[in-house]
Amino acid sequence: MGKASRDKRDIYYRKAKEEGWRARSAFKLLQIDEEKRVVDLCAAPGSWSQVLSRKLYLPAKLSPDSRDNDLPLIVAIDLQPMAPIEGVIQVQGDITNARTAELVIRHFDGCKADMVVCDGAL
Ligand SMILES: C[S@@+](CC[C@H](N)C(=O)[O-])C[C@H]1O[C@@H](n2cnc3c(N)ncnc32)[C@H](O)[C@@H]1O
Repeated sequence: MGKASRDKRDIYYRKAKEEGWRARSAFKLLQIDEEKRVVDLCAAPGSWSQVLSRKLYLPAKLSPDSRDNDLPLIVAIDLQPMAPIEGVIQVQGDITNARTAELVIRHFDGCKADMVVCDGAL
């Protein structure tokens, strides 16, 4: 089956067409509050991590149904240290280094991230 046929059967491809989004990738942002494991690459000084904390972690924590082992995990990485942000685990390191990736995977108990955001700049 060709790529075009595969895409046409994809639920998000069809949903994007119906709702007027230019690509199915719109749903990655629309569903951000459903993500459980998120990595913020090149995170300092931390404004994106603050957004992730406020959109994902704090609402889940304040929910009456919340359980500690079900809260979203947000890992922020940068070469520079950052002031603490509630619900954000900080890793000071180089994103191009395999050891940094291993540290992140360890925080996620060996699972893959649901979402990775990156605002890298020198
Ligand atoms: C534009 S700032 C990020 C701003 C951030 N998104 C925020 O919301 O506050 C870019 C960051 O990329 C980081 N950076 C650049 N190369 C990196 C690398 N190889 N590993 C980790 N961080 C890196 C820099 O230290 C810098 O803090």
